[in-house]
Amino acid sequence: MKVLGIESSCDETAAAVVEDGKKILSNVVATQIPFHQAYNGIVPEIASRKHVEWILPVVRQAIGESGLTLEQIDGIAVTNRPGLMGSLLVGLNFAKTLSWITGKPFIAVNHMLGHIYAAHLEKEIAYPYLGLMVSGGHFILCVVHNFDDIEVLGTTIDDAPGEAFDKVAKFYGFGYPGGPAIDKLAKNGNAEAAHFSMPHLKPGHSYDVSYSGLKTACIHRLEQFWHQDFEKTPENIAASFQEQAIKILARPIAKAVKDTGLKTLVAGGGVAANSLLRKRLGEIKDLQCIFPSLKYCTDNAAMIAGLGFHYLKAGRTSTSDVTASPRVTGFSKKGRQ
Ligand code: KG4
Ligand code: ZN
Repeated sequence: MKVLGIESSCDETAAAVVEDGKKILSNVVATQIPFHQAYNGIVPEIASRKHVEWILPVVRQAIGESGLTLEQIDGIAVTNRPGLMGSLLVGLNFAKTLSWITGKPFIAVNHMLGHIYAAHLEKEIAYPYLGLMVSGGHFILCVVHNFDDIEVLGTTIDDAPGEAFDKVAKFYGFGYPGGPAIDKLAKNGNAEAAHFSMPHLKPGHSYDVSYSGLKTACIHRLEQFWHQDFEKTPENIAASFQEQAIKILARPIAKAVKDTGLKTLVAGGGVAANSLLRKRLGEIKDLQCIFPSLKYCTDNAAMIAGLGFHYLKAGRTSTSDVTASPRVTGFSKKGRQ
């Protein structure tokens, strides 16, 4: 079955055609980064307007590059949550309309499940495994039982990891988006230049993370954590921040590996592109880490089309009353703490 995927939850207008959940026939991503760069962050109104402008040409290009005609597509998968409401509505309403015009079924899918599915595009992975979704808006550590069944172990109690990267980079003028900018600068910096403390989480939060303390320390109180013999350069700030940001992530992951006995972790989301994250998680004992290629870590529609195939195969299509939602919703946190 050939599925057309549509993704417009944030600042990428994307469409892809994927066969049987695996074979990528086309994958088009139109990034809005240059339009938001001047503001050092995403401007929701600009994002929605660009999606409106680009969605039709991007979908046309994806179908054209797949070598198929619209008639040969079996279903349309689209992100309906979580994300920016105005952005989500563009993709969702486009997919609904296309479904209505062509009579093809459409499937509304969760963007975060799409991020986890991304690794399946390139590799056979057996369930269950530990899932790590790390992006600009989320941190979710979970046990993944199936393509649509996850058991949430931990989330963030305040900021998402990508948000912390973006805000620190914005404050110091390192560039936008902040994650890749810090990752690059950090390569030439000294991670020992500043030492930050680990967040203290209340009992019952042992799989959770917190980033607001690190963000505030790095932005407003960096002097306090600075070692006298190191120069306060952009490279050193980036390397010290990144070291601690990844240490914060690695703690609940190491605990989850121990507690669940699961030996595989699949990561997804923009922050999964981080080079230090990849290195540090690779060092956790008894754990095989699977990361998607960089182009499938950040937002794309191939992961949405791939995931959509499994819903379609199971006959679980959506009806036109499905709405968009800015929230993740629907995942259970079963309290293994
Ligand atoms: O998954 P994504 O493309 O969009 C969301 O669903 O949020 O993730 C974007 C986030 C941004 O915060 C960006 O700074 C971060 O992923 N990111 C990175 C790296 N590449 C992207 N963070 C750290 N290191 C990277 N190499
Ligand atoms: Zn994303």
